Amino acid sequence: MEIVITERPEIVAADIIEKYAREGKTLGLATGSTPLKTYQELIRRHKEEGLSFAQCQAFLLDEYLGLPREHEQSYYRTIRREFTDSIDIEDSAVHSPDGTAADPVAAGNRYDEAIKAAGGIDMQLLGIGTDGHIGFNEPGSSLASRTRVKTLHPQTIRDNARFFNNDESQVPHHVLTQGLGTILEAGHLLLIATGAGKSEAVAALAEGPVAAVCPASVLQLHPHATVVLDPDAAAGLKHSEYYRFAVDNKLAGQGY
Ligand code: PGA
Repeated sequence: MEIVITERPEIVAADIIEKYAREGKTLGLATGSTPLKTYQELIRRHKEEGLSFAQCQAFLLDEYLGLPREHEQSYYRTIRREFTDSIDIEDSAVHSPDGTAADPVAAGNRYDEAIKAAGGIDMQLLGIGTDGHIGFNEPGSSLASRTRVKTLHPQTIRDNARFFNNDESQVPHHVLTQGLGTILEAGHLLLIATGAGKSEAVAALAEGPVAAVCPASVLQLHPHATVVLDPDAAAGLKHSEYYRFAVDNKLAGQGY
């Protein structure tokens, strides 16, 4: 795992995503607050520098169960509002789990099949929850899990109430999320974390044991994972001196 500590995580992340976009690769996208600056930077590059996503497909990590697609907080709508409506990707190429399916178990299986049929995800963008989740794989998630229904952690419901008029009772309790096994099949994992509120989860992800109690720690099993942090999110790391040294002393020509 490569850990990059920088004042501008969105620039490092946008550079990585740009490389995949230029090759028309399949992008795994995330919602939440963390990737917003990265999306804004990619939209800027699209508008000002001609960066095109026209050949790309995109797969979202997760979706709330029971929210209609047109609900402002469904992830189907959120990713369009925050990112894909402002670039040149085909709308039909932006995929998300079907949170309104009558049979959500079958919908989870169908989503894994759709990812496979697209040839897999080349680059998966990730945030991390304060409880260590990626996607909505809450503590205790099987490290081999596939796209499936999960019940949200009360902490996640509290964290996400800000998107629902600060009213926890409006936050759905159930979601469809790519599983940890699904996420591990992506070619490159790119996790961004910012702010002091994430420092404990980041330390567990990078320096704790691989364990279901911190689902993000599964990144330690992936051969190509890049974790991009601002200094506040990195504050709990024991070996930050080494991570900075390793990035500053990369062999010539080695990218992320
Ligand atoms: P955030 O959420 O980016 O809104 O902090 C991250 C997550 O829950 O994965």
